[in-house]
Amino acid sequence: AYNKIKSEKTLTMGTSADFAPFEFPVVKNGKKTYNGFDIMVANQIAKDMGVKLKVQNMQFSSLIGELQNNKVQMVMAGMTATKQRRKAVDFSKPYYTESEALLVKKSDANKYTTKDSTKGAS
Ligand code: ARG
Repeated sequence: AYNKIKSEKTLTMGTSADFAPFEFPVVKNGKKTYNGFDIMVANQIAKDMGVKLKVQNMQFSSLIGELQNNKVQMVMAGMTATKQRRKAVDFSKPYYTESEALLVKKSDANKYTTKDSTKGAS
């Protein structure tokens, strides 16, 4: 894959552009391109390698298979590095972690201390 990137001067990245803000389609003058966090990082990687980035949009479920088939040389798709996937492909160090959570007003904090807190609430 590395030699192909160098000889074709193109890094082909697989993504599933249905996951804003990581990857999403942008239609400009009737032409579809892709943007988002992953696309920007991929562009920088290509730039650092001195090659062009080509974005190949596909089904999320096809990404690993198409990487294995050499259809793409890299995948960025907000993909979680699960134990199962790690068996099939080589993940980088995580570049994004999240910890979204439910929130309530500070003044109500002591009313919602357990998962049963809302039972019987009126
Ligand atoms: N992080 C989740 C996963 O890896 C969802 C990723 C969805 N990404 C996408 N481009 N549709 O399963």
